[in-house]
Amino acid sequence: MCGIVGFIGAQEAAPILLDGLARLEYRGYDSAGIAIWSQEKGMEVVKAKGRLQVLSDMVDGGKALKGTVGLGHTRWATHGEPSDVNSHPQVSENGRFAVVHNGIIENYAEIREILQSKGVHFVSQTDTEVVAQLLEYYYRGDVMEALTKVLHRIEGAYALGILCADCPDRLIAARKDSPLILGYGDGFQMLASDVTAVIKYTREVCYLDDGEIAVLTRDGIEVLSHPYLLPVKKERHHVDWEISAAEKGGYEHFMFKEIMEQPKAFRDTISPRIQEGRVVLEDLHITAQQLREMDKLYIIACGSSYHVGMAAKYTLERLLHKSVEVTLASEFRYCEPIVTDKTMVLVISQSGETIDTLAALREAKRLGARVLSIVNVVGSTIARESHDVLYTWAGPEIAVATTKAYSTQLAVVYLVGLYFADLLGTIEKAEYDSIVAELTCIPDKIQTILDQKEQIQYFASIFFNHPSIFFIGRNIDYAVGMEGSLKLKEISYIHSEAYAAGELKHGTISLIEPGTLVVALASYGKLFEKLMSNVVEVKSRGADVLGVTTESRKETMAKTVDHVVAVPDTHPMLLPSLDVIPLQLFAYYVALMRGCDIDKPRNLAKSVTVE
Ligand code: M6R
Repeated sequence: MCGIVGFIGAQEAAPILLDGLARLEYRGYDSAGIAIWSQEKGMEVVKAKGRLQVLSDMVDGGKALKGTVGLGHTRWATHGEPSDVNSHPQVSENGRFAVVHNGIIENYAEIREILQSKGVHFVSQTDTEVVAQLLEYYYRGDVMEALTKVLHRIEGAYALGILCADCPDRLIAARKDSPLILGYGDGFQMLASDVTAVIKYTREVCYLDDGEIAVLTRDGIEVLSHPYLLPVKKERHHVDWEISAAEKGGYEHFMFKEIMEQPKAFRDTISPRIQEGRVVLEDLHITAQQLREMDKLYIIACGSSYHVGMAAKYTLERLLHKSVEVTLASEFRYCEPIVTDKTMVLVISQSGETIDTLAALREAKRLGARVLSIVNVVGSTIARESHDVLYTWAGPEIAVATTKAYSTQLAVVYLVGLYFADLLGTIEKAEYDSIVAELTCIPDKIQTILDQKEQIQYFASIFFNHPSIFFIGRNIDYAVGMEGSLKLKEISYIHSEAYAAGELKHGTISLIEPGTLVVALASYGKLFEKLMSNVVEVKSRGADVLGVTTESRKETMAKTVDHVVAVPDTHPMLLPSLDVIPLQLFAYYVALMRGCDIDKPRNLAKSVTVE
């Protein structure tokens, strides 16, 4: 949801800003813009609807804009359609202030009306313009004074970058509920929505917290608290990601690269946490006593992370003998959740910045729950606000459609389940040992499926023109079907639904007609026969069925369905980690054959920082 980057130093800023924006484009890509200040020309703002390349061409890769201080923005439209004028930076009426923003100013309409009644002329439909105009309105020669008044007046979520033509020796940033990091360099400083935009230049960063303001000059960064502008001492972090991890490295798409990286990502996530056959979670500070007293376990997440939560419910209930409720983060706050100080909440988020998930986390904490989060982005807000955090070691995930984050989230769920079950004494030693042993085999088994990708590509070539595709499954197969369906629709734009197979005959089966494609997941052995009955029901209505099952059931399934994909056999609890791989590949190849923009699907952005 919008990427922002800022640079102040001795080098030309525009090429650095464009490079940073290219790495942030996954956050939004309907328009982009930059503001540069120079002695000769003052404030120059160039912005354009469309992909970053349009802007880059307009400024000759940055060479056409001279100046060593500036701000950049790549947009995912909320208020006002994607257009040149609605792109950021938004500029105050007399051009003094240029503002880039990620988030939503909720009371913008009211402020806009008041300013208009005082004669301020607005040019865009954005909420962000209100910030620029309000800065101008309050400005009496002191930017910080104007900014504190603005922050006092606006409501909502924001990461702001501000450049003022009266003091171009500094960049100013402020944050509430939207991510912002600061990068410390030698003779230069940077700000950005995330570290991928700065690691080419510096690996020393700090994370701005809510209610903080940062002043960046060429010599350093000062962080102050709002509203009294008291100095805040920030902890610096060293980022050790390789820059190549955030680049395509010869692959046509990030999504494909990330699919192929899953064996490594899974191994990196589990290996340090399995020692001599035992799950060791040193980062966790939850005791057996707390677990025994736990009155409820909620899992809260959005999108694919929610689908991991769906699979986790089956796993954790089986291992812990406790009931688990999975709730969409966007619903949690509004469903009057029953939470006590004995409640535990498992929050799952790749980005660690999803606003709905963050808001639910805060609500759960307010009600007294203990929060454990599974997060990929180190230092993200959800990670920092949780009582305990377990990181997935997937590395940067750039494609909007998540793949390796999903897989590593599942890996952490298994580890948590085993660790908690061991503490609670709800698992037999033999069962524990066999799951741990099998867990270490999962990366190789994922690799086996990836090595047969051409088979999935072939199935994609048969079905890529189908207008509507159903995924059916039972139990964990249903949870995986939900992810397969989401993957397909988000990148290929084919209508798709996932159904608990037993539910079909309660209405949805009326949509099945000759030629409808049904992807039937039948890997969970206990329910194989039941699922096959549902397959027969859709086949009798003319559906084409693509089955997904395990090697040991492949032949049986092949007798009934049109095509079968087999994954290696494994412990039933771990099946989602294998079943999801062919579904990711299927979605990828279907989207490829349809000529879709796979890494940047329409209307989407990777990090959803608005409600
Ligand atoms: O960063 P998060 O895991 O909190 O993101 C949640 C969803 O927005 C995300 O999983 C989304 O559904 C993906 N684009 C799916 O591929």
